[in-house]
Amino acid sequence: MKKILFVLFLLSTQLNSRADEGMWMPLLIGQNYEAMQRMGLKLTPEQIYSINKSSLKDAIVQFGGGCTGEMISSNGLLLTNHHCGYGSIAGLSTVNNNYLMNGFMATTREQEIPCPGLSVKFLVRIEDVTDKVSSFIGDAYGEDVEKRFEEVAKTITKASNENGTYESDVKSFYAGNKYFLFVYQRFTDIRFVGAPPENLGKFGGDTDNWMWPRHTCDFSMFRVYSNNDNKPAAYSANNRPYQPKHHLPVSLKGIQDNDYAMIMGYPGRTTRYLTSYGVDLAINVSNPSVVKIRDKRLSIMREEMEKDPAVDLAYSSSYAQIANYWKYFIGQTEQLKNLNILGAKKIEEDDFMEWAKSNDKSLKRLMSDYQKSYADYQPYAKHATYYREAFAAPALTKLGMSFEQVSKALKAGESKDSIDKLCKRILNGRKSLFENMNIDLDRKVFASLNLMYYQDVPKSQHPDVFANVVFAEYGSDDWQKTFDDYANFVYENTALLDSAKFASMCNSESIDELLKDPAVTYALNVVRNYKDNYEPRINAFNYDMFELNRAYQGALLKKNQNKLMYPDANSTMRVSYGKVGSYAPKDAVFYNYYTTAEGLLDKYKAGDKEFDLQPKIVDLLRAKDYGDYADRKSGTLVTCFITNNDITGGNSGSPVMNANGELIGCAFDGNWEAMSGDIAFDQRYKRTICADARYIMWVVDKVLGGRALLEEMTIRN
Ligand code: ARG
Repeated sequence: MKKILFVLFLLSTQLNSRADEGMWMPLLIGQNYEAMQRMGLKLTPEQIYSINKSSLKDAIVQFGGGCTGEMISSNGLLLTNHHCGYGSIAGLSTVNNNYLMNGFMATTREQEIPCPGLSVKFLVRIEDVTDKVSSFIGDAYGEDVEKRFEEVAKTITKASNENGTYESDVKSFYAGNKYFLFVYQRFTDIRFVGAPPENLGKFGGDTDNWMWPRHTCDFSMFRVYSNNDNKPAAYSANNRPYQPKHHLPVSLKGIQDNDYAMIMGYPGRTTRYLTSYGVDLAINVSNPSVVKIRDKRLSIMREEMEKDPAVDLAYSSSYAQIANYWKYFIGQTEQLKNLNILGAKKIEEDDFMEWAKSNDKSLKRLMSDYQKSYADYQPYAKHATYYREAFAAPALTKLGMSFEQVSKALKAGESKDSIDKLCKRILNGRKSLFENMNIDLDRKVFASLNLMYYQDVPKSQHPDVFANVVFAEYGSDDWQKTFDDYANFVYENTALLDSAKFASMCNSESIDELLKDPAVTYALNVVRNYKDNYEPRINAFNYDMFELNRAYQGALLKKNQNKLMYPDANSTMRVSYGKVGSYAPKDAVFYNYYTTAEGLLDKYKAGDKEFDLQPKIVDLLRAKDYGDYADRKSGTLVTCFITNNDITGGNSGSPVMNANGELIGCAFDGNWEAMSGDIAFDQRYKRTICADARYIMWVVDKVLGGRALLEEMTIRN
């Protein structure tokens, strides 16, 4: 009896826990419907995704390119994460009027602040275009696959954008086994409505980042504006708030252990079908390289930022982004090892090869082909990472690199006209590259990161500028001094830093002289070496990977044909369903599924860079002034909670919804114990960290004085 129960228990937990893994396509969500219902969902598939009637998808946007946002009122009010609005908020701030530091709330529409460059896109529809794309690509290989894909995608998107009303995109799924068309409507008049002060919106800073327990109130609010026909329009004072087809009601009922939770948004990238060879490369080469380079870069940035509040503000957003993925790769490596993902992948691969033996003989060399491709690529893998992360890091280098096209065009004997056009583009590019640039900081990054590039990339792969210029002219036993001296020379003698001089030189007349500029010659020497000698090998590896991955995932689709198999994330809208729930991160340790205001006060440390809070907030917390937002059972203010939903970067800002499609939180992070999640989902540990809707509303109302915003929302009590 006991035995049977035990087996049943195993079976049922597997059935239950299987469901939370997966980033499902909204178009096909009907396939998951039974599982979702079993877990508690009260909506129909059409209420989640429909192209005829309003559905949840109409409330969800891709925010600013890399995040997710959701409509929470019929007047275009948008909720996303603080770290998603961060760049825009920093851009609107000055040292004397610092919305990032102090927080902000527009109490009238007139006080809302336009955010130039920010846009959001709504999903109009999805269509399976596999047959069209696959037949057009045929048996092309390598570069030709890309070319044919671009050509056929162009025809398909052109036919679908309805005279420029929409924009569309064809995306590959299951590594080129399926293709779908996505049609979007993009809005560009987006205005800043409100955000908590940074020390609450980013409470815990990099120390708490990627970790549970968490108390961060990671939200910000914007408003989408449209013209009088409710259509996208460039900023105009006459625009009015957009009326979305659907907006999410906000639930103040709160969450319980095991409650149904559903997340919709735009996960960016996962590699769940990565092989053991890829895991090995990540653990031993790519991840440690990224971490080492970023460690150095961040310490230089910190030093300069601490000297000057203007530099601090200018670099705050880029610092946060670099630090975010610095810690991410530390955690990913740690958990790939801890959870023995390499071993698990090997078992999967053996199992697959067993299946292939009796099902598809053409696959019998698949894994050894993978092994061979990775082995061929291995000697250049570091170079690829250092080129991107170290060499190309300084703004000056990026500008120097942009002359590559000009130099090519000159060699091809192109007309003055086309050279002038390219120069104009470089001039424009310079504006955004140098907008927040501090020369000292950039020079120090240049010196130290190029030294790393020199030291860590195999000598046989070096560009000749190292021997012929850097060491020929500045060589000493102290390599740091060599690179410092060389950096000083470049930064003191380049014309690229002087905007007037550069503007007068960036044209077909003076281009020869510019191409002799020390910043340009350095950049182009490294670029040429890389592109002529190493990029072809890296491309060859990527083409191999495309072929192998297509074969592998195509076969997995066959092998799993009686099960559902979700595609890797690719910045298209996905649905994840799961439950609110605690976890045990290690022996004898239990993590509860929610945190509270008391915990926030416990962490609070006056004057600390990461754990400080404004006195007003401390007072409210100490007085337990939680208003209507207190948890009904415990009376405390619940701050954050966790679910076992499957999300990744790009989902930031996604709505966390209950069984009725009401907003219960805003997803903002993943947890440390499952940092290998983008490569392998761990059923025991993987959690999504969410700011509780009641915490957000408490901050809007009590901290920021934005009660009027709550009045335009649909509140469910
Ligand atoms: N880890 C979060 C994510 O990628 C971002 C958190 C931003 N906060 C920070 N301290 N950098 O979604």
